[in-house]
Amino acid sequence: MQLIETLPDSAMPTTRRILDLLRHGQPNETVTVKGWVRTKREQKEFSFVEVNDGSSLAGLQVVIPRDVAGYADTIKRISTGASIEVNGTLVESPAKGQRIELKAEAFQVFGEADPETYPLQKKRHSFEFLRDIAHLRARTNTLGAVFRVRNAASAAIHQFFQERGFLWVHTPIISASDCEGAGEMFTVTGFDLNQPALTEDKKRVDFSQDFFGKQAFLSVSGQLEAEIMAMAFSNVYTFGPTFRAENSNTSRHLAEFWMVEPEMAFCDLLGDMELAEAFLKHIFRSVLETCPEDMEFFNQRIEPSVLATASNIIDNEFARVTYTEAIALLEKADKTFEFPVKWGVDLQSEHERYLAEDLFKKPTIVTDYPAQIKAFYMRLNDDEKTVAAMDVLAPKIGEIIGGSQREERLDVLENRIQQVGLDPAPYWWYLDLRRYGTVPHAGFGLGFERLVQFMTGMSNIRDVIPFPRAPQEIEF
Ligand code: 4AD
Ligand code: MG
Repeated sequence: MQLIETLPDSAMPTTRRILDLLRHGQPNETVTVKGWVRTKREQKEFSFVEVNDGSSLAGLQVVIPRDVAGYADTIKRISTGASIEVNGTLVESPAKGQRIELKAEAFQVFGEADPETYPLQKKRHSFEFLRDIAHLRARTNTLGAVFRVRNAASAAIHQFFQERGFLWVHTPIISASDCEGAGEMFTVTGFDLNQPALTEDKKRVDFSQDFFGKQAFLSVSGQLEAEIMAMAFSNVYTFGPTFRAENSNTSRHLAEFWMVEPEMAFCDLLGDMELAEAFLKHIFRSVLETCPEDMEFFNQRIEPSVLATASNIIDNEFARVTYTEAIALLEKADKTFEFPVKWGVDLQSEHERYLAEDLFKKPTIVTDYPAQIKAFYMRLNDDEKTVAAMDVLAPKIGEIIGGSQREERLDVLENRIQQVGLDPAPYWWYLDLRRYGTVPHAGFGLGFERLVQFMTGMSNIRDVIPFPRAPQEIEF
């Protein structure tokens, strides 16, 4: 993809992004940069100021000679965190590790950052500490790199689907149905919670009098609506926020996370798995291309396996096993698990990690799970015990993608809904899709933050989303 690295700015035609200057800037070019100061060193004849504008991991070294107008007054006001503008000329840098630097001819401060109180100083801060100052942490090297990778991965996702003719469909955030049937939903209400309308017996809240006329929730998945759209456009995808009220305080769960959900008509489980694999390979390839410095940084400073993992994903085929085979492998493992395994239990993250990390050492697709541990919409296999499900397990993370072929047969689907104890009435429109022009179809959901964790090696999911939502966490 061609990057346009300069911003249109009619008032200041020479304002350049630092990424652009570091990559393409030439000695003798006259430029203006604007950004935030990372460090300042005052010396006898010059001051050295490193400026970062968020466009790249590396900042631009600015050299400010003492004879620049207003030097004495302005340099005093500059410290780590201050916002400044510098006009000057690019020169070859005598310093190691940088090709060019900016020799200032004029400079000004937009906003100071009092060093007595500015919390980000030039030292390592813990990620826990940075979470408490999430309004400032995007200015650090690590979080800056994370959010650039997050952006590049988002763009790669759209590119992947758009190139293949998938329609991006916008599914609702407020929904009346529980797609996963797990009851982990946040209620959305217009009631004054101190005096909600009650049923006649005064024992329950009467949602028929609420804003939507029935109980509404934040959506856990856009899948059911994506299926509607796939039944008209063949291939679609969603990319948006989803919400889960599970009270899991882990490094892999958020209450609000972004999910990518492709849905394909005329597609079976095999096609679904193939798409998932091609999709992950594409995102890794694209991010390595767009953010090489950031990925190198993660490899050096966060997790030394980041680049090896990326090549492993790109170059190798994923492992594929059925759930039944996976259980046999886990039973044979010379490892004691906290949660014992036997056919029928859901895989815990320790089992998922054993398979992907210790055994196969690469992403592993597990298929054909027992029907009783999976959602109602998954297609029943001929053995009538398992469903055409697939989870992609990633080393270090565990489940990163969950998907399935969907049950397209009306009678089988109706049975399944009854069996899992759901009321079929609200699913009338979902069942209609099986009444009118039903087709085999399949799809999956990728947890976007888990993908970013996987790519960057960041160990806590709260550090790969700008403003994490988790139990007791909603300050910003
Ligand atoms: O496996 P899940 O629950 O599948 C679905 O929601 C399907 N409707 C998707 C589909 O077939 N269209 O969730 C999909 C993925 C998981 O594999 C995981 O990566 C991520 O979403 N995920 C979470 N990520 C962060 N925090 C949470 N609480 C998550 N719950 C699921
Ligand atoms: Mg799942």
